[in-house]
Amino acid sequence: MNIALIGFMGVGKTTVSRALGRLSGMPEVDVDRRIAAREGRSIPEIFETDGEAAFRDMETAAIRELTGGRPSGGQILSCGGGAVLRPENVRLLKEGGAIILLTARPETVLRRVGDGTSRPALGGVVTVEHIAGLMEKRRSAYEAAADFAVATDGRTPEEIAEEILRRVRAE
Ligand code: S3P
Repeated sequence: MNIALIGFMGVGKTTVSRALGRLSGMPEVDVDRRIAAREGRSIPEIFETDGEAAFRDMETAAIRELTGGRPSGGQILSCGGGAVLRPENVRLLKEGGAIILLTARPETVLRRVGDGTSRPALGGVVTVEHIAGLMEKRRSAYEAAADFAVATDGRTPEEIAEEILRRVRAE
């Protein structure tokens, strides 16, 4: 069974994915890194050259590939912040396992995304108001896709990973 981590940019999906990998021994795969490696370009470059719609198609193709033919024992899939905005991606992720939503306060996200240059979906507007607004717009999609949510503010990646494993195993 796979464990997919979803949630807004900067909530800590990559860091928690690493901690989960160490704790569980499951292999971890970052969907965005997979796309960038395949394309030989960074995510901001793909947005800039091909546009967001093309990136979203690449994202669906990567999720389809990663959720089919998964190794036994499953894997941890760290998804980009917009991945669950497409119902097809949610369906693919649900088929193969659990979907866990990570959340953080907009102030925490602001601190983590730095100047925002690696986050083209912010459109260069790196303010707490913009982050809070976009988060609110996406909130229902995130919540509908997730089996459960874990707040990350003020907690270590290890604590969060332990909670996720405990809850996934109890389900
Ligand atoms: C996006 C989030 C990014 C990346 C792309 C689009 C989004 O991933 O997939 O820039 O729409 O929220 P992270 O959540 O890992 O930053």
